[in-house]
Amino acid sequence: MAQQLRHMLRDDDVTHEEQKQILELGMKFRENRHYHMPFAGPQGVAVLFDKPSTRTRSSFSIGVAELGGYPLVVDKSGSQLGRGEPVEDTARVLTRMASAIVWRTFGQDRVETMAEYSTVPVVNALTDDFHPCQVLADFLTIAQHKGGVDALEGMTIAYVGDAANNMANSYLLAGAVAGMHVRVAGPYGFLPREDIVADAERIAATTGGSILVTTDVREAVAGADCIFTDTWVSMGEESEYAVRSKPFWPYQVNESLMALAKPDALFQHCLPAYRGKEVTAAVIDGPQSVVWDEAENRLHAQKALLTWLIGKQRDDESLLL
Ligand code: CP
Ligand code: NVA
Repeated sequence: MAQQLRHMLRDDDVTHEEQKQILELGMKFRENRHYHMPFAGPQGVAVLFDKPSTRTRSSFSIGVAELGGYPLVVDKSGSQLGRGEPVEDTARVLTRMASAIVWRTFGQDRVETMAEYSTVPVVNALTDDFHPCQVLADFLTIAQHKGGVDALEGMTIAYVGDAANNMANSYLLAGAVAGMHVRVAGPYGFLPREDIVADAERIAATTGGSILVTTDVREAVAGADCIFTDTWVSMGEESEYAVRSKPFWPYQVNESLMALAKPDALFQHCLPAYRGKEVTAAVIDGPQSVVWDEAENRLHAQKALLTWLIGKQRDDESLLL
């Protein structure tokens, strides 16, 4: 196999088999935090933030260190990128020093430009459109609780709430790649873009999965194996707070909504969560919630992803196992 420069910019940047490979690696990292150390040296990984973060910052910082590397964490306020230096020039500079670039930013076009000008793997650590690292962690959490990575295929997952946000888009694509039955429910005006739904449907047709986008929250959660939600007000939308709460109330994940899913269904939330809004305290702090495992799995899933990307770039099969 030849060396391949691969990026993770959106969830369908990997195939069904590749996603499974990354998740299996994630299970290995769950068992042994130093399973692989591809950045030993240490080599540097640039981790850039244009938006706030707790989980992504800590999991990439600690994760890169556990992989033997040095995490160079830079906030928007502390970089020339934040003062308007072109993404292309930033990519040209970082790519000469870092072994990988991880970036949380606004437009998806920005990570795409970074990848175009980079000679090292670029990882999307959340854009307005997608959050692929989060969904890898979420699927690892299902694997952890429901019998391994092979168990994902054919499962039914439901995401309810702001169905036009990055998490909804990522569940659609990643779930389709995994061969899951993905249901997404939100109010009119807050449903996913047609092109993303079309991409998910096209992928699901090849993996045995299926896609349902609906305004009917009960239809979405009925018999599901896992229920997901997210904040009703994403980063960058703070000025819309007043208009954003009202339409989402019927989509709140509470005990009566959970009761429509399978009795052993899991509850996940990427966090930060707003108790009493998108989820009640009884659910997120209740027995079906696995949100703390989910947060921990950011670490394992992202270490697996970085290791896999570096394994591809170095054509080192030993890193892919
Ligand atoms: N879920 C998530 O990405 O959390 P942070 O915004 O804290 O990184
Ligand atoms: N949809 C949320 C996810 C936070 C991890 C946001 O973009 O703010």
